[in-house]
Order: sequence, then C-alpha cells, then structure tokens
Amino acid sequence: MVLTQNSLSTSTHHQQTSEQTSAWRGLIETYREYLPVSDKTPVITLLEGNTPLIPAPSIANRIGRDVKVLVKYDGLNPTGSFKDRGMTMAMSKTKEQGAEVVICASTGNTSAAAAAYATRAGIKPVVLIPDGYIALGKLAQAMLYGAEIVAIKGNFDQALQIVREMSEHYPITLVNSVNPYRLEGQKTGAFEIVEQLGNVPDWLCIPVGNAGNITAYWMGFCQYRSVGKCDRLPRMMGFQASGAAPLVSGHPVEHPETIATAIRIGNPASWQQAIAVKQASQGEFKAVTDAEIINAYRILAAEEGIFCEPASAASVAGLLQVKDQVPAGSTVVCVLTGNGLKDPDTAITNSDSQMQKGIEPTMQAVAGAIGL
Ligand code: F0G
Repeated sequence: MVLTQNSLSTSTHHQQTSEQTSAWRGLIETYREYLPVSDKTPVITLLEGNTPLIPAPSIANRIGRDVKVLVKYDGLNPTGSFKDRGMTMAMSKTKEQGAEVVICASTGNTSAAAAAYATRAGIKPVVLIPDGYIALGKLAQAMLYGAEIVAIKGNFDQALQIVREMSEHYPITLVNSVNPYRLEGQKTGAFEIVEQLGNVPDWLCIPVGNAGNITAYWMGFCQYRSVGKCDRLPRMMGFQASGAAPLVSGHPVEHPETIATAIRIGNPASWQQAIAVKQASQGEFKAVTDAEIINAYRILAAEEGIFCEPASAASVAGLLQVKDQVPAGSTVVCVLTGNGLKDPDTAITNSDSQMQKGIEPTMQAVAGAIGL
C-alpha cells in the first residue's frame, strides 16, 4: 500500500507512468518467494536494496594477477547502510504480529534503520547506544526519525545484553540481528551479487562486528545455490578491527576499541553461526589495524571515488592485507556496508586535503590560492 502511494505521487509529479511499472519495488516484493512473508504481511519499505556492484580497479591493481575486485556499495540504501535490508523484514513482521514498540542496541546504523522503518510502520522505536561512540550522522538520523534514544555508560555488548532482557520482560520486540527476520532480509545482498555477477564471486570480503551480516550473506548464497541460481559458493573472508577481534583471538574482548565504531564489538551475538560459515566456506577471520582501515578508506575515496564509513573499509583493508593469497584471475567482492557521510568527523580528521580559509572573494585571490 505504501508502495502504491509512492508510485502514484512520483508518477504524478514526473509524469513517468510507464517507467514506474518496472521500477524497483524494494526487497520484499522482489524476493518474496525466498522470504518468510505472506499475503497478510504488511510490507514496510523504503525501497531498500538494489545497490550497485562497482568495479574497484585501483584496489585490483594493487593485487595484480588479473584479479577482479568489485564493491557492493550498500551505503546507498535509504538510511545509508545495509541494515535497511534487515529492517524492512523485521519491521514488516513486527507489524504483522501487532507489536507497538521495538528496541535495539546499536553502534549507530541499526538505530538509524530501526528508527526510520519503525516510524514508517507507526511503531515506537527505542534505541540503546554506547555514549560517546556513535558517529555523528547516525545519531542525527536516529534523532530526526524520532527514536527514543538512551545512551548508556557502557559498550555495545552491554547494551545488547540489556535489550535482550528488556524484550523478555516487556511487550517490546527486539530488532537486533538476533531477530531471525533481520538475517532473512540481509541475505538478499547475496542474491543481488549473484544476479549482478551472473554467478558467485570466488571470495566475499566483509567487515564483521556482531557477525549477523556474514551469516546472512552465507544463507543467501546457499539458498541461491539450492535453487540453481549459482553453481558454487564463495570463500567467506571476515575482517574485524584488531582492537575488537574476538573471532580472530577466539575469546570475547572485554574492552573493544577501534576507530571503526560500527564494529566496536567484543562479544558477537552470531558467534557460533560465524564459525560455522568460516568452516563451511573454508574462509577465514582476520584482524585489520585502524591504520590499515584508514588506509583502505582513503584509497577508496581518493582513487575510486567511493566514500564508505571506516567499518566498511575493513573489508578492503583485509583484502589488501591478504592479497598474496588471492588466486590469479579470481573475482572478489568486498561489501561496503555503510555510507561515508555517516561519519564526517573521521573523514575530516583523516583527510590530507588542505582547506584554505579566509581567502578574499576575488578571482585573483582564488587563483593565487591554488598557485596560478
Ligand atoms: N559495517 C557497518 C557499517 C555496521 O554498522 C556494522 C554493524 C557492521 C559492518 C558489522 O555487521 O554486526 O552484522 O557483523 N553495525 C551494528 C549496528 C552493530 O548497531 O549498527 P555485523
């Protein structure tokens, strides 16, 4: 119903009725047959998904040996991250089940997506965030979408523990990735990659925090193979920040630290699933330092023209770290989970652009400033 209203108003404004009939209809309508929805499920959508798979020649050149590298730029979703894929499903099912309040713990992106989709569904969003460790853009989103925001003097892992308990004690639906509908929605990222490439990539590089997304991608690839949409499965390469790398060390990290606040997580909820994905795909978990993350973040922006957030750049940082292991001629997809605009502070702090200030407003002064 929401979709119809949007299509109508768009076509009235732009008089493009014929194009509207083939327009993207969001994840649930597009992948309905692969998702646990029925005719009774109200579809809560912002027309998420359908994000581009962009070649990254500058990264590929650093590897050589005819390796192709592409990035799945999920920062182009409606709230700027891959969380929208999970949230369209989680919120549609929450609405179907009649709940009136949703809650989540978040390093920022989940809270923005939950707030947007809940608002659209007429459901009240409550978000718990680690005080002082949320990128500015994400906080701005949650505020303007109208979430009830509670900043705790603790980290994400503690926030997740609290919201899990709250959803057991109160009539509140949990929309973190422990909600199975989240992963169902997120698996569509894998569907899109298979469609965009015509098959699976040889490697999938992905940043790992709570480990929901790596689990979801694997579900998607496996499901598509089982229906004959692809004939093999990728090697799943999960990258964590070195100060928050429990899946690499094998034990929880009590005080996770990294510049990539989105993946500042010490005790991932989908730990067991992530280990199973690694084993089944003959994949690996590796740690990348903050310096490696920032290096990849800068290369992506300055050489590829792609602005992602630091956590997302962990996938490319990881690929560069293990580049000598990539088989010649293979195709690698790196998932860029969030938009760079989410975290303007990190961008400004880590750029070497020199901004010249206080220049007189004349052509001569500007020409002089740029050395002409
Ligand atoms: N990249 C970004 C930009 C994220 O926001 C997250 C997680 C991840 C990667 C890791 O995904 O947790 O499924 O392994 N963000 C969560 C949040 C924790 O609250 O927004 P994961």
